[in-house]
Amino acid sequence: MNYENIKKKCEESNYLISMVSVEEIIRLGYSMGLTEKSNVLDLCCGYGEVLKIWNEVFGIYGTGVDICNDFIIKGQKRLEKAQITKVKLIEDDVTQYTDNIKYDVVILSETFDSIENTINLGEKFLKSNGMLVYCKTYSKVSNPPQELVEFEGELLTLDDLNSRFNKLGYYITHMASDSVSDWERYITSEARKNINNIRNNPNDIKRKEWADKWYKMYFKYRRLYEGQALFGVEKL
Ligand SMILES: C[S@@+](CC[C@H](N)C(=O)[O-])C[C@H]1O[C@@H](n2cnc3c(N)ncnc32)[C@H](O)[C@@H]1O
Repeated sequence: MNYENIKKKCEESNYLISMVSVEEIIRLGYSMGLTEKSNVLDLCCGYGEVLKIWNEVFGIYGTGVDICNDFIIKGQKRLEKAQITKVKLIEDDVTQYTDNIKYDVVILSETFDSIENTINLGEKFLKSNGMLVYCKTYSKVSNPPQELVEFEGELLTLDDLNSRFNKLGYYITHMASDSVSDWERYITSEARKNINNIRNNPNDIKRKEWADKWYKMYFKYRRLYEGQALFGVEKL
């Protein structure tokens, strides 16, 4: 067993703000046929880790846009350290972002108002034969608990999600799904940040309430009823 490889993947996972593993992200890129000529735009890129991984594996060009200064600065440092020059990260609000280039792949990691609006946003930057990759949480049951819906907002089933894509003329042609261990990685890393903050501000009741709610939502509802996947969708 190659322990160094496992350690590298754990390190990369720490910079993924999703519940999909490094392996699944690579498998998705492979099934989409990414090459060193592919140009990918990641709207809401976080640390830009998906672009970094796809550059290291397939040699892609990448542009990542995120509103969070801290993510962009840390992501840029990681790219510099890895001597990656084909990927750039930009701090901006994606709803205001402008670009003259049309991309082969556009990744959407947040939903802005509705799935329809979000797809419209991605299409502005997409080549006519390009592919959208939509990261979306979904409900594993047709009637998810109300408390979970209040926490997450609209939670569609996979069937509903598929119909919504179809209505917009899109078909799901690639998928990369979550795993329990990636949920645990995400849930506990967010919790650790919160717990460190509570240690530094012991009188911050709101943070303590949030930490308690975070765990309750995960152990009582999210683990049972919620899934997440990266959906590669393309037009007929
Ligand atoms: C769930 S994270 C996904 C990050 C990344 N795609 C990944 O898998 O690691 C969502 C990201 O959306 C960013 N975000 C939210 N609203 C945004 C906006 N209006 N413009 C740009 N980024 C935004 C957040 O800062 C956060 O990094």
